[in-house]
Amino acid sequence: MAPTDAFNIVQLSEKDMDQACLLSTQAGWNQTEQDWDLFFRHGIVFGAFATPEQLAASAAIIPYGDDIAWISMVLTKAEWRGRGYGTGLLKHCLQWTEAQNRAAFLDATPAGEPIYRALGFVPSLKITRWQGSGKGLPSQTLAQSSSSNAIDQANCTFGADRSFVLENFNKRYPAVTSANASTTCFVRDGRLAWQIGPVIGRDETEASKSIEALIEQLSGAVFIDLLDDCVSIAQRLEQFGFTKQRPFLRMQKGSHRPQQTQYQTLAIAGPEFG
Ligand SMILES: CC(C)(COP(=O)(O)OP(=O)(O)OC[C@H]1O[C@@H](n2cnc3c(N)ncnc32)[C@H](O)[C@@H]1OP(=O)(O)O)[C@@H](O)C(=O)NCCC(=O)NCCS
Repeated sequence: MAPTDAFNIVQLSEKDMDQACLLSTQAGWNQTEQDWDLFFRHGIVFGAFATPEQLAASAAIIPYGDDIAWISMVLTKAEWRGRGYGTGLLKHCLQWTEAQNRAAFLDATPAGEPIYRALGFVPSLKITRWQGSGKGLPSQTLAQSSSSNAIDQANCTFGADRSFVLENFNKRYPAVTSANASTTCFVRDGRLAWQIGPVIGRDETEASKSIEALIEQLSGAVFIDLLDDCVSIAQRLEQFGFTKQRPFLRMQKGSHRPQQTQYQTLAIAGPEFG
């Protein structure tokens, strides 16, 4: 493996959008330009070029509130893997988060997990991506959320302010709330599928009903990244024809504990946003 100081790490900007999208598309990920744009506008995207024209690898950080930094978009083009790009970029991200005195969080794929463990990240939640299809039928049971209530509730449950992400999702597809206001679901379009999440709720039975109504309403492929603890929602997804696509492992470096609220996160926003 090449030493990590054998390549230059640079900060990418919107002008690198095409190359950034190529990385996530080649990896079979779901992000669109709108997702990358959130990283460019609200976070920091680091990259390493294998040649002056070819971006080999990326890693992004989004600061949430005052205490957290979310690390994601850790991608190396298949032909450049195993040369230290991933580890080098991660170390660079950690220097930034440590200088800012922020706890670093990420949702790891099985490919990324060994790098993060080696750099001192410790696991917490287990998450599974479920994949299925929407039915494209009108729903009678879901109402559009009051945007500010939905965002306040989601921020409070998450434990940090990430309003800019949730406002972006809400513009792409209005967040929905159950009739008794016990569940709120955000949704956004993706390159391959709709992504439902975050889903915030008080109990799984009520949340299942909202998720099912939303699946009925959406047309085409749907992803939802559900906490493995949500066993009864998983059973209902299976009954809806959903299958497990891949696992993610939430990992963190540095301490940060969200305060307890009456709501819980049942499905995350996606590994790139937490
Ligand atoms: C995960 C990923 C970013 C790693 O990138 P990378 O540039 O290959 O990372 P590194 O070169 O620093 O390698 C990290 C470790 O994996 C090993 N490795 C990674 N890819 C390898 C390959 N193709 N062949 C051999 N070893 C490989 C390295 O040897 C190294 O192990 P070591 O530290 O014990 O030597 C890359 O595999 C990837 O883009 N995967 C698809 C997207 C993904 O899952 N990203 C992670 C999101 S959480």
